[in-house]
Amino acid sequence: MPPELDPMLFGEIDPPQRLLMGPGPVNAHPRVLRAMSADLLGQFDPEMTGYMNQVMALYRPIFGTTNQWTMLVDGTARAGIEAALVSMVAPGDVVLVVNFGRFGLLLTEILGRIGAVIETVEAPWGEVVPFDAIEAAIHRCHPKLVATIHGDTSTTMAQPLEGFGELCRAAGALSYVDATATIGGMEIAADRWGVDVVTGGLQKCLGGPSGSAPITISDRAAQHIGKRRHVEQGIRRDDITDGVGPRIGSNYFDLAMIMDYWSEKRLNHHTEATSMLYAARECARVVLGEGLDATFARHAKSGAAMTAGLRAMGLTVFGDDRYRMTNVTGVYIPDSVDGEAVRTAMRDLFEIEIGTAFGPLQGRIWRLGAMGYNAAKHKVLLTLAALEACLRMQGFALPLGAAVPAALEAWGQ
Ligand SMILES: Cc1ncc(COP(=O)(O)O)c(C=O)c1O
Repeated sequence: MPPELDPMLFGEIDPPQRLLMGPGPVNAHPRVLRAMSADLLGQFDPEMTGYMNQVMALYRPIFGTTNQWTMLVDGTARAGIEAALVSMVAPGDVVLVVNFGRFGLLLTEILGRIGAVIETVEAPWGEVVPFDAIEAAIHRCHPKLVATIHGDTSTTMAQPLEGFGELCRAAGALSYVDATATIGGMEIAADRWGVDVVTGGLQKCLGGPSGSAPITISDRAAQHIGKRRHVEQGIRRDDITDGVGPRIGSNYFDLAMIMDYWSEKRLNHHTEATSMLYAARECARVVLGEGLDATFARHAKSGAAMTAGLRAMGLTVFGDDRYRMTNVTGVYIPDSVDGEAVRTAMRDLFEIEIGTAFGPLQGRIWRLGAMGYNAAKHKVLLTLAALEACLRMQGFALPLGAAVPAALEAWGQ
């Protein structure tokens, strides 16, 4: 049967050209897509291991660290989170979660499956947790690990982390930060914050596809994890001894084995996801090529322009202004407006995707992102102009033509 007649072959992938202006994923940078189409290599080919070493070097400045153990976990950002938690936390360990949104809840969900004793210190959605509340909670529950989110996309809030790691260290606790939504867009200062493990993802400010989770691990945390090393039977070697601690409860996410794979030992674990490694490498090259400060400034300008445009339309921006992420903005859906109809019109008429929300904010706010390759003036302006048109179609009375000039002014033009 000719292929065009075989219904099981469907068609060649040819997605519409959408502009992804939600909380992520965003459109990948064309350089990253090109890198992903490069030819594959065997996992122990010296070119491939050379690329792995380059990735380690490229992500150190992005994480703001000199940590040797800076590498990738294969899988989406959640894979990085799960690898960090299952490798650091043993069943029965007390873990304090600093929770101010959906992704703080995800930490508790993963920790619950690990069998941790979970303590929380919380803020309502739209706020962050005050430093002294974290300090008091640490002294109350004496955790082995304190875990938090940097920017929680569900609420668009960024938890201040200056002094966070030191506070944990002083109390004898390890610390973990999920920086999926901020890495490459807001400063990550793993060493200055004194944080032990930080993980990220490519699909937001780094301008790549989801599917690879950059991670950095302090020597202190690496030592702790190393005590739990139990190399799988089929790849054991005489020169590698097991640790005395309890075996890590996941094989795939066993950071002790993943570190052995990324070390000069090259002890085989998984088969490194070559095309995703190429993507992660190119994402880092794009960000470092522009310069970290310039990248952060571009995200900040995009966020400021988006916020100014939304306010000029008469909309109310969600959350505490002092702590808002620069790259995702939440905005209340006006009472008279059908939020899903607006999102559908944005997609159908303008090929623009904006985000819905989760949990208590579902149906109450939209989330608009300007991240990575999409943190660009023209993309913010197009999104605002399209939203204005869609709101008008819904009968929402707004000052016509106010959003774009306000955004341009906030951009500095
Ligand atoms: C803060 C944060 N953490 C974790 C995740 C989960 O990432 P992934 O869907 O790549 O596993 C997301 C995704 O939106 C996020 O925003």
